Amino acid sequence: MAITIKTAEEIRKMRVAGRLAADVLEMIAPHVVKGITTDELDRLCHEYMVEEQKTIPAPLNYHGFPKSICTSVNNVICHGIPTNKKLKDGDIINIDITVIKDDYHGDTSQMFCVGKTSIRAERLCKLTQEALYLGMEQVKPGATLGDIGHVIAKFADKHGLSVVREYCGHGIGRIFHEDPQVLHYGKAGTGVELREGMCFTIEPMLNIGKRHSKLLQDGWTVVTKDRSLSAQWEHTLAVTADGLEVFTARPGEPWYTSN
Ligand code: MF3
Ligand code: CO
Ligand code: CO
Repeated sequence: MAITIKTAEEIRKMRVAGRLAADVLEMIAPHVVKGITTDELDRLCHEYMVEEQKTIPAPLNYHGFPKSICTSVNNVICHGIPTNKKLKDGDIINIDITVIKDDYHGDTSQMFCVGKTSIRAERLCKLTQEALYLGMEQVKPGATLGDIGHVIAKFADKHGLSVVREYCGHGIGRIFHEDPQVLHYGKAGTGVELREGMCFTIEPMLNIGKRHSKLLQDGWTVVTKDRSLSAQWEHTLAVTADGLEVFTARPGEPWYTSN
């Protein structure tokens, strides 16, 4: 599958889809508290997407995924399936939202701290967001995917965190996961050269312990092999003539614009 360059019309649709995905995170944020189950978070998001936004929750039935969002708690790296288990004080949770609007995907995730979290858990979440931002700052025509992976891995290493290698960011558009693969490690100046109109996600997963992952029996839930805490943040973006446009930016983030 080749890397697609999106037309202005497609970029407009990506902008709408990205905004809607970000809106779901904003909507769910106040609900992420001690005592709520991840099933309830899934139901709230599902209803908001389907009834208010008229979007399609992309995860639902995607290669058989059973729910509308991914909820990855503590040592879960990614693709956690919502359950009837309650969030408890001190948990960290990634909520990953992908919506489809007018055939185009918007994909974004963030970490939430439940109640009073340990200093090291909070630090992991904060640093993983910074790692995403550093990767995003590399994006402009002529830069390479290796530049993105390189700064993320270098930053993680500097802070004693490890980078998950088995899962990566991805091209996105009409198709949820399309080329290219966006690795969160690599060598500066190598790999695909970025061009205006490319759309992809960056979604680093950093662990406090070792980088290795394990897939659970359910076929989806990815956990750290050493059971250490893991965090992930994700944005969907486009390469523009002079940098990037972040489709899933939220208020307060440097790339956010209200129009
Ligand atoms: N949203 C995830 C990503 O960032 C993919 C989830 S696929 C699912 O690429 F099936 F687990 F939902
Ligand atoms: Co993604
Ligand atoms: Co995602």
